[in-house]
Amino acid sequence: MKIVKSVVEMQVICRELRTQGLSIGLVPTMGALHKGHLSLVQRAHSECKTVVASIFVNPLQFAPGEDFAQYPRTFEEDCKQLETEEVAVLFAPEASEMYPGGAVTTVTVSGIGDRLDGASRPGHFTGVATVVAKLFHIVVPHRAYFGQKDAAQIAVLRQMVQDLNFGLELVSCPIVRDADGLALSSRNRYLSVPEREQALSLHRALAEIEQSIAQGERRSSTLLDIGRNILEAAKGIKVDYLAAVDSGSLLPVTSVERGVLVAAAAYVGHTRLIDNLLVA
Ligand code: PAJ
Repeated sequence: MKIVKSVVEMQVICRELRTQGLSIGLVPTMGALHKGHLSLVQRAHSECKTVVASIFVNPLQFAPGEDFAQYPRTFEEDCKQLETEEVAVLFAPEASEMYPGGAVTTVTVSGIGDRLDGASRPGHFTGVATVVAKLFHIVVPHRAYFGQKDAAQIAVLRQMVQDLNFGLELVSCPIVRDADGLALSSRNRYLSVPEREQALSLHRALAEIEQSIAQGERRSSTLLDIGRNILEAAKGIKVDYLAAVDSGSLLPVTSVERGVLVAAAAYVGHTRLIDNLLVA
């Protein structure tokens, strides 16, 4: 696996891959890799000739006071995992390479970017859209792979791809969970043993909602009450949001039909976790 730190070198390598006629699958990450990230690499391998990954803890998507400084950085271990998954090129730039002095241009997805996590974390999705747009320009992938775990991120990026005419396919991949149901996240490393237990109520609330939907309940208000009761009864959990929204616009819906996103965010101690259910 080639590790590249320079934007220009990355552009040259990716251009060369394209001229060889190789389709490129891009998997953007912030590192601290787990099986969720690796599932994106595996999906990319099944659909593309070459897989390119990036590791960049993007300062632009963290607000002051958030966990940018503490965010887990496990570069050596990450490289071993990507090597095992036969990633061809890893792009791992420094912040000064991605945002040299004088850079002032950002990408803001209005409306969608201010909903769910965008409402709780103002400016977050401008940071995400900006860095992902830059990665798309640098790599020019045929397909780019993202996890359904960050459902609002996918909605924001789909809108960006459409509005800015990125000629690529954005592929959404299923949520990978631990055996007990907790969605894998780099931030799970922050959890103490009791917090890890408390965090499970996020999945439990969504599972209860899913069961009620399977039994025929369609009213959002009723379904969200079921979830909220579970979350509020759980020790050590502070709900940020629990919402039933259209998975494209992220606007609230009153009736939960196929394709609706039921999404939750909660603090477990100081750790903010998210999870969701895309109604089948
Ligand atoms: P990060 O949190 O490292 O996640 C990288 C990718 O892995 C995202 O597409 C995310 O949705 C996916 N992912 C994380 N946990 C997952 C799980 N349990 N199952 C399936 N996929 C999972 O998301 C980001 O980084 C950043 O915002 C980024 C897109 C890289 C821009 O900086």
